[in-house]
Amino acid sequence: MSSASSGPVVLIGAGNMGGAMLSGWLKSGVAGSSIVVVDPGPSDQIMKTINDAGVTHVTSAPAGLTAGVLFLAVKPQVMEAVLPPVKGTIGPETVVVSVAAGKTLSFLEGHLGEAAMVRAMPNTPAMVGRGVTGAFANTRVTAAQREQVHSLLRVSGPVEWVPTEADIDAVTALSGSGPAYVFYLVECMAEAGRKLGLQADLAMRLARETVAGAGELLHQSPDDASRLRQNVTSPGGTTAAALSVLMAEDAMQPLFDKALAAARKRAEELAG
Ligand SMILES: NC(=O)c1ccc[n+]([C@@H]2O[C@H](COP(=O)([O-])OP(=O)(O)OC[C@H]3O[C@@H](n4cnc5c(N)ncnc54)[C@H](OP(=O)(O)O)[C@@H]3O)[C@@H](O)[C@H]2O)c1
Repeated sequence: MSSASSGPVVLIGAGNMGGAMLSGWLKSGVAGSSIVVVDPGPSDQIMKTINDAGVTHVTSAPAGLTAGVLFLAVKPQVMEAVLPPVKGTIGPETVVVSVAAGKTLSFLEGHLGEAAMVRAMPNTPAMVGRGVTGAFANTRVTAAQREQVHSLLRVSGPVEWVPTEADIDAVTALSGSGPAYVFYLVECMAEAGRKLGLQADLAMRLARETVAGAGELLHQSPDDASRLRQNVTSPGGTTAAALSVLMAEDAMQPLFDKALAAARKRAEELAG
């Protein structure tokens, strides 16, 4: 029978992503006393969260501690140095979760030994509880561990499990890096508005609220994106005129195809 460990959630690295996950866990009702944060110097804000919720904070992994979930949220470039001292927190029932971009399960196994492991790719809207996460579990992860990890990742938004580890590189290209594409869209729209004669700051406010509002509409509406687009596109109208440019054969779709392919290639290169 599969079982989830009752050991603590040990969070290694409470920076942007780890801190967002920690806040989400506490808000969703995970007891502070069941969390151990390992970070040499969390921000004042995270320290306040830690202290208010009765979370244990240590600057390095304590000896004798066995994690239920070992959650790795440090930068990929420090991962190699971080892993050896945390290896001792892995017991037979521990599930390891890594959110580090480009760090493969075989890299993690190389440093931690064989264990139940999940590779997850969240995105930055996790900081406002509106992220989306792609996740891949190795065959050692039990159904109960997967459920436990799902509920920990779910606090920052929906969790989509993918069937192969290679899919994580495509997830990275789409949703992991995706928020930056949308922010750039805001910049492009604002610049185009400025070129039409609007004050730059007004153009930016209009572009920003348009993208934020459209995102919220998409979030709340049961309709898919193409239906919402058609709803605001009257035949022969202004939106149709703009879309005839954006949807031309050589316009946005091939550009996005190229951009995401470049992101995936980079993710593959980083994985070495
Ligand atoms: N941010 C994103 O959009 C995003 C999206 C998906 C995945 N990720 C992944 O999330 C991971 C963390 O990214 P981030 O943006 O949250 O980075 P970050 O803000 O730099 O957070 C990392 C935290 O780990 C701490 N740390 C450094 N060395 C440590 C050690 N030996 N033991 C324990 N903690 C240590 C850092 O402390 P110092 O600041 O003192 O060094 C910092 O508080 C990365 O692997 C990234 O690929 C991030």
